[in-house]
Amino acid sequence: MANQTKFSSRIGIIAATVGSAVGLGNIWRFPAEVQSGGGAVFLLVYILCIFLFGIPVMTSEMALGRGGDSDAVGAFGNVTPHRRGWWMVGALAILSSYLILSFYMVVAGWTFEYLVQSVTGDLYSPEHGEGEAAFIDRMGSYITGTYRPIVMTLVMVAGNLYVLLRGVQGGIEKVSNIMMPLLFVLLVVFCGVSLSLPGAAAGLEFFLRPDFSAMTPSTVIDALGQSFFSLSLAMGIILTYSSYYPASTKLTRTAVTVSLLDLLVALLMGVIIFPAVMTFGLSDANLAGSSLVFVTLPEIFAQMSGTRVWSSLFFLLLTVAAFTSTISLAEVSVAFMQRRARMSRRKACMAVLLPLAVLSPVCSLSVGPWSDFKIGGLTLFDFLDNVTTNIMLPLGGILLCIYLGWVAPKNFLENQLTNGGHLRSRFAGTIHFIVKWIAPALIAVILVSGLL
Ligand code: PFF
Repeated sequence: MANQTKFSSRIGIIAATVGSAVGLGNIWRFPAEVQSGGGAVFLLVYILCIFLFGIPVMTSEMALGRGGDSDAVGAFGNVTPHRRGWWMVGALAILSSYLILSFYMVVAGWTFEYLVQSVTGDLYSPEHGEGEAAFIDRMGSYITGTYRPIVMTLVMVAGNLYVLLRGVQGGIEKVSNIMMPLLFVLLVVFCGVSLSLPGAAAGLEFFLRPDFSAMTPSTVIDALGQSFFSLSLAMGIILTYSSYYPASTKLTRTAVTVSLLDLLVALLMGVIIFPAVMTFGLSDANLAGSSLVFVTLPEIFAQMSGTRVWSSLFFLLLTVAAFTSTISLAEVSVAFMQRRARMSRRKACMAVLLPLAVLSPVCSLSVGPWSDFKIGGLTLFDFLDNVTTNIMLPLGGILLCIYLGWVAPKNFLENQLTNGGHLRSRFAGTIHFIVKWIAPALIAVILVSGLL
C-alpha cells in the first residue's frame, strides 16, 4: 500500500530523526562508555565509527525506507518483490524495537520521576541523608519499588499514546519541533555551567586528549556498538521515519546532519560531565551505567547553588531525550500495524501501546519485587537489554547490510541517493562498498564478541 503520510518540512524531518537518535544512549550510555573505554581514545574511535559506518549505514537505511515506502516489513517486499524471505529482517527489527521499548520506557519513567522530585525538592530533602551513599540508597529504593516506578512508566506510555494518536505531522513532527531546540538550549546552558567550574581543564583533558596506551580491541567493538545504538540503526526506526520523507529529501545530506547532531549531543555531554566530575572529586566508579545520571549528577547538583533549578533542568533534558526516542521506537510497530494489518491509526496505536502498559510494568517489577525470577541468570530487564543490544541489534545490522549490498537491485541505492537522477551523489559508490563489504564484517565481530 502506498504511503501517503509525509513530514511537512525539512526542519521537521531533521528534528524528528534527531529526536529518535538522541536519547539515553547519548546522555546516559555515552559518558559511561568513554569512561570505561579509556577516555579520549574511545571518543576518537567513536568519531571514526560514526563517519566510516554510522553515516553510510544510516544513508542506506534511509534509502530503503523511502524507496520501500512502507513499514519495516513491507519495505523489503516493495523493493524486491521476487525475493521472498527478506521481510523477516524487517520482522526482526520490529520485534527488537518493541522489546527495547519495553525496558526503555521504564528508564524513561525513572527520568520523569527524577524530574518531578527535582521540581518538588524531594530528591534533595535532608531526611534522606547526604552524600553519595544517600543517593545510591535513594535510587536503589526507588527503582526496586513496586508502585511508583510503574506509575511513572505508565505516564510515559500515556504520553506516547497522546503524541502517536496525533499522527506523523500533528504528533511526532510537532513535538520534535518543540522538544529538540529545547534540548539543545539546555545542553548549551549546562556546558556553560560546567566549563566555568574549577575542574574544567582536567575534565576536558581526560575527555579530549587521547592516551593511546589505553586502547584495546574492545575499544573498537564498544565504539561501533555504541554508534549503532546511538544512531538508532538496524531497528526499523530510521527505515520507518524515512518512509515519511518526501521524494525531494536529500538523503545523504539528511543522514550526515542527523549523525553530526547526534555526535554533537554526545560531545556536549562529555563536556558537561567530565569537568563536573573532576571538580567535585567523585570516584570513577560512579560513572558506571545507571549510577551516572541518577547518583553522580544529583550529588553534583547538591553541591551547587541553585540545586533544584539545575537538577530540574537536567532531568527535563533527559526526559525530553528519552521521550522522543520512545516515540520513534513505538512508531515502528504502529506503522507496521497500520499498513500490514490495515488498522486505522487509532487502532494501531492502541494495539501497540496497550500491551506495553502490561509488559513495561512487568519489566519494572523484574528489577524490584520480582528480581528472584531469572532468565539465564538475569532479571527480565537485564535479559531484554542484553539480548537486544548484544545479539538482535548486530544481527539485524548484518542482515540489513547484506540485503542492501547484495540483494537489493544494483541501482537502487544510487537511484535513491540521487533522487532518481536529479542530484549528483559523489558518495553513492563508497556507501555501497562500505555497506556491502566492510560494515557486515565488522558488525559480525561485534556479534561474536557479544556472544563470547
Ligand atoms: N538512539 C536512541 C538512544 O541512543 O537512546 C534510542 C535507541 C534506539 C536506543 C534504538 C537503542 C536502540 F536500539
